[in-house]
Amino acid sequence: MLSRKIPIDAAPPHVAPTYASRGMTHSVLRNVLPEESMDPHSAYQLIHDELALDANPALNLATFVTTYMDDEADRLMIETFNKNAIDWDEYPQTVALQDRCVNMLSRLFGASEHQDGVGTATVGSSEAIHLAGLAMKFRWRNARTAAGLPCDRPNIVMGGNVQVCWEKFARYFDVEPRYVPLTPTRFIIGVDEAMALVDENTIGVVGILGSTYTGEYEPIAELDTALTTLCDAHGGADAGWDVPVHVDAASGGFVAPFLTPELLWDFRLRRVRSINVSGHKYGLVYPGVGWVIWRESADLPQELIFEVDYLGGSHANFGLNFSRGASQIVAQYYNFIRLGRQGYSEIMKSLAETARWLATEVGRLSGVTVVAGGTDLPVVCLRLSEDMPFSVFDLSDRLRLRGWVVPAYGMAADAESVSVLRIVVREGLSRDMADCLLADLVAALAHLRASPPEPAAAAPAAGAPAGARAGAATAPELTRHPSVPVGACIGGAGRVTSKKVEKKTKAVC
Ligand SMILES: Cc1ncc(COP(=O)(O)O)c(C=O)c1O
Repeated sequence: MLSRKIPIDAAPPHVAPTYASRGMTHSVLRNVLPEESMDPHSAYQLIHDELALDANPALNLATFVTTYMDDEADRLMIETFNKNAIDWDEYPQTVALQDRCVNMLSRLFGASEHQDGVGTATVGSSEAIHLAGLAMKFRWRNARTAAGLPCDRPNIVMGGNVQVCWEKFARYFDVEPRYVPLTPTRFIIGVDEAMALVDENTIGVVGILGSTYTGEYEPIAELDTALTTLCDAHGGADAGWDVPVHVDAASGGFVAPFLTPELLWDFRLRRVRSINVSGHKYGLVYPGVGWVIWRESADLPQELIFEVDYLGGSHANFGLNFSRGASQIVAQYYNFIRLGRQGYSEIMKSLAETARWLATEVGRLSGVTVVAGGTDLPVVCLRLSEDMPFSVFDLSDRLRLRGWVVPAYGMAADAESVSVLRIVVREGLSRDMADCLLADLVAALAHLRASPPEPAAAAPAAGAPAGARAGAATAPELTRHPSVPVGACIGGAGRVTSKKVEKKTKAVC
């Protein structure tokens, strides 16, 4: 989240009056580095208490990100908080654990033994996606340059439902984003529609294994086949048509291999050259760790790799950041050997069962339609019928009173007329807890039916007399959830174009 410097007198200046320990006699400046030190107990207590205002992570069903790990994992993480993962020479065993994770993931994602895949840990899928996007751009440019073709107008093709990091990649790295429009009944990429946007300047097509908005898997095998047909029709690689697929498996990369191993979405497909996955989502590690894996070393152009020798030894580095904590990498390796295929499969199966049970029960409620019911990611997405006297945003607010954080948001562009409530079933939401959630949902619906909220009052027009109402507030104002400020950092799915930010609350990553 971007934090802003504010005028010094714009906020209460002090964090606390005399409080936190009997010896603490002075207040603490909020936005100015205090002149004096304080004892650690008081500092701890002040911050600890302030953070109590945050939601309870266990009830945060807005996020895909892990909120529970074994005590043993916690211990390993605490033991390694003081290690910088970039200090290869100093911490060679941490490097060895990352190497093993990359090897395990490459095989988990269907790479065959003769393929010399490469990969790296990242801070999350966003960094992984920037790296994968750069590799696609450089690979495309190298091929075009070698063939004496122009290479000044790269584009990338993806569904309108991509997570915001894809728009960031396109903007930061000067690649034209070509979005396949959604429709009010299709919330993921359409294959024919995507192919219509591909041309010789396309650096890659993105397929999402688990849309942030609904949890649905995009048809990656179909994208792969259609792209091959299209490229072949234009003369194939020799004629400059060799478009790869990148799979954004931020969430699904740790779900599909265990629940639907027969589903073809990964390196078993010819055009899938790179895959990202968030270790901190269904990889079951606390934030932030992600991974990007290339099917073969040739898919990662050499000029993107830096040989760094000033830490002792010489090491290949490809990342947007240099220093990063080692503890998440260690925790990922812990999960891999602790859970193995059996453990991940059991957890994913149980999450899927809970999601499907919840979807079935929710689907029985009058006025509620299940948009996605845990058939792909363990996510339940629901909408309300139009004649309900309240919205999914009101329902989300009502659930919040019981501590549940369940976001409501409008779909991405061209389907934004559809607003949904999304429940992410993560480890920690036991069947018992899901039962409590259902009971609270039923109670919230009953309450809202009996006492529908007043329609949101429009803001007074600028310069209008006090008490006057602007009869013509803009449409974006009316569709925005009143309790969420524009740009509020509750999410990451929606894109950050100012128009879009105005229009809706976002899905949370
Ligand atoms: C499909 C998809 N891609 C990318 C991301 C970004 O992932 P991260 O939060 O790990 O950077 C998300 C986050 O929700 C996502 O759902």
